[in-house]
Amino acid sequence: MAETGATSGISGLDLHLELTGTRVRAALEQALRDAVRSGRLQPGVRLPSSRALAADLGIGRNAVTDAYGQLIAEGWLVARPGSGTRVASRVVQEPASERSAPLETAARYDLSVGTPDLSHFPRAAWLRAARQALSTAPDTALGYGAIQGRNELREALAGYLSRVRGVRTSADRIVICAGAAQALGLLYRALRGAGGHTLAVEEVGEPSHRRFAREAGLGLQLLAVDDEGARVDQLGAGARETNADAVLLTPAHQFPLGAALGPERRAAVVRWAVDTDALVIEDDYDGEFRFDRQPVGALQDLAPEHVAYVGTASKALAPGLRLAWLALPAELVDPIVELKSELDLASSSFDQLTLGQFIAGGAYDRHVRQSRIAYRRRRDQLMAKLAPFADQVRVAGLAAGLHAVIELPPQAPSDAVVALAAERELIVEPFAGYEATGPPSRRHNAIVVGYGTPAEHTFAATIALLGDVLGHFLDV
Ligand SMILES: Cc1ncc(COP(=O)(O)O)c(C=O)c1O
Repeated sequence: MAETGATSGISGLDLHLELTGTRVRAALEQALRDAVRSGRLQPGVRLPSSRALAADLGIGRNAVTDAYGQLIAEGWLVARPGSGTRVASRVVQEPASERSAPLETAARYDLSVGTPDLSHFPRAAWLRAARQALSTAPDTALGYGAIQGRNELREALAGYLSRVRGVRTSADRIVICAGAAQALGLLYRALRGAGGHTLAVEEVGEPSHRRFAREAGLGLQLLAVDDEGARVDQLGAGARETNADAVLLTPAHQFPLGAALGPERRAAVVRWAVDTDALVIEDDYDGEFRFDRQPVGALQDLAPEHVAYVGTASKALAPGLRLAWLALPAELVDPIVELKSELDLASSSFDQLTLGQFIAGGAYDRHVRQSRIAYRRRRDQLMAKLAPFADQVRVAGLAAGLHAVIELPPQAPSDAVVALAAERELIVEPFAGYEATGPPSRRHNAIVVGYGTPAEHTFAATIALLGDVLGHFLDV
């Protein structure tokens, strides 16, 4: 027989079976076996009738019935009268060496940093927004074209950011990106393209954000961080050639230490940017989640032509959306849109339309409000759990955000705490992973706990376990 690289779409099931060689039946058997073994055909999935599959693949029906029969005999498939042929529900164990690494962690108790409670994602409201957005969008919204981002979303964001974060912007200054990760990558490339060479960063921060800068060809200047955020006085006041071209800051909630950038430093960094014609990149990753006082407004408001503001849906909604936004100085809009077009043409217009509707209809505000209440409650529970150790640990960053830093005394080395936690199926992160400076200059014996991460029903057990692990090292 001739080679068949056919796709069967019968019964709505897209089988993508590659049948090669002359032994059609054996080839079909093998292709189905592989599909079940690899999980491409999931337990319970109904296969097409033998007639339909034969017609679809252009082979004789007998070959299909024989192949089905063999796989039923081997236990891969089951056939029941009236319900056709289905993939058997048994779990097929793959040899360990052939199994690919899981993409999603499945520890039972997860305090890793950077994710909100995904079980809290507002699915029903999101679906309503998607339905509404898709039923009203023009056909042109489904084509190429909106490299800068859908106007519906940019308009909604301009209003939201001004109302909630004090950002001074308009839809034509906003660019939609695939996460803050992409937004930062674009800014770094734009800086480099304009002849820039150095980015100043906080000496503790998200490591991937430093890596992106190095990959874009920028050198790094490290700024110390204290209780008032980054030491922006270290930026210097010399000529542009001797200074950094830009500084990346997390002013509302230093990541991960948690301080808000002090008022004098906010003014000073903006003055520096204006005086040296440099750029401040404001990563406002969780600015909405401030618990004990009014939110700290965006720094961008002080100098919109010198601050590139970065916001993301990853904390307020879910990182899986891969949606973020830049509010840019006028002169950066075209270069960034140009770079974005080279990278991926544009972000998904379906998701943008949905998020635009979600914000414009008030669902985003409602969700953030509810989340803030839920995370504040968690924060309080965490503080209560740590209270017995109050004289031995210092907890930083509790006024805002979805994580806290627990600074430990010498009898509780962070590596040992992380290792014991892991033994008990609890993920906590060592602070060292966030430090740009390696040993011996590491200052913090600390762990970072993402208390926003666990699903609500596991939260109490998760922090109880954290308390047990700490209790192993500390005096109660
Ligand atoms: C400091 C910081 N900024 C921004 C983000 C959001 O990144 P993204 O929008 O790419 O998910 C994160 C994610 O953990 C982060 O740690």
